[in-house]
Amino acid sequence: MVKGESARSVAATRGGPGSGKNVPPPQLPTTVTKEAPTTYPVHPLLRQRWSTLAFDDRPVSDAVLFTLLEAAAWACSSENEQPWRYVYAHRGEAAFDAMVHCLSAGNQVWAQRAAALVLCVAQTHSANGRLNRFALHDAGAANTTLLLQATELGLSGRQMGGFNHEQTRRALALPPQLECVVFTALGYPGNADGLPESLRDQERAARSRKPLHEFVFHQKWPSPATPDHPGQ
Ligand SMILES: Cc1cc2nc3c(=O)[nH]c(=O)nc-3n(C[C@H](O)[C@H](O)[C@H](O)COP(=O)(O)O)c2cc1C
Repeated sequence: MVKGESARSVAATRGGPGSGKNVPPPQLPTTVTKEAPTTYPVHPLLRQRWSTLAFDDRPVSDAVLFTLLEAAAWACSSENEQPWRYVYAHRGEAAFDAMVHCLSAGNQVWAQRAAALVLCVAQTHSANGRLNRFALHDAGAANTTLLLQATELGLSGRQMGGFNHEQTRRALALPPQLECVVFTALGYPGNADGLPESLRDQERAARSRKPLHEFVFHQKWPSPATPDHPGQ
């Protein structure tokens, strides 16, 4: 669904060719929303979160950004190790540009317009040198918590695995015990019209997921799940 489409048709009727008025049509919002069509009634935040490519120019304040980071902090983690670490920069800071240059060319196109970039890294070993095999899992949980809080506050985010790890390590002076996980581009959702055409189509495409029967099994692999409530 594209917000503003009905407003666009109304404006075209009022100010478009043949209307007798030589005024340009007003800037109309075409921010995309993509609520997940779920089978079971999951929480609205889970339905409403999606990975945005278009951001508007509004900055994200530290008050908001730190609310998201605090949300990440309250994710659960193995032995409460909290292995996630975050390095962030706001658009306009030199560090932001350095981060953008670490991204794949395809990601740079849209992510440079985000209000902030946040790199998640994971501490993969405990203080005693023991491998924490849940470090990446727990970092992912923290990132998801961060994005759900962002959704609650009207922000959007998109994680990126497409970046150069070595360049990132150098640019951000990361010590060897930290493993790069993902970058997240954050900001307020923007006008999809500003994206290159292929990304615009991607931005407007419906979200989809595998049906539950493809990844849920009952009692034993690969015995099909037969829930006593079939969903909607
Ligand atoms: C670990 C991870 C890496 C991702 N890497 C990229 C990326 O490099 N570029 C990109 O545009 N999207 C990336 N995404 C976003 C996914 O493509 C997106 O989450 C997926 O298509 C599902 O869409 P949804 O989040 O809107 O439901 C990544 C997501 C995750 C979780």
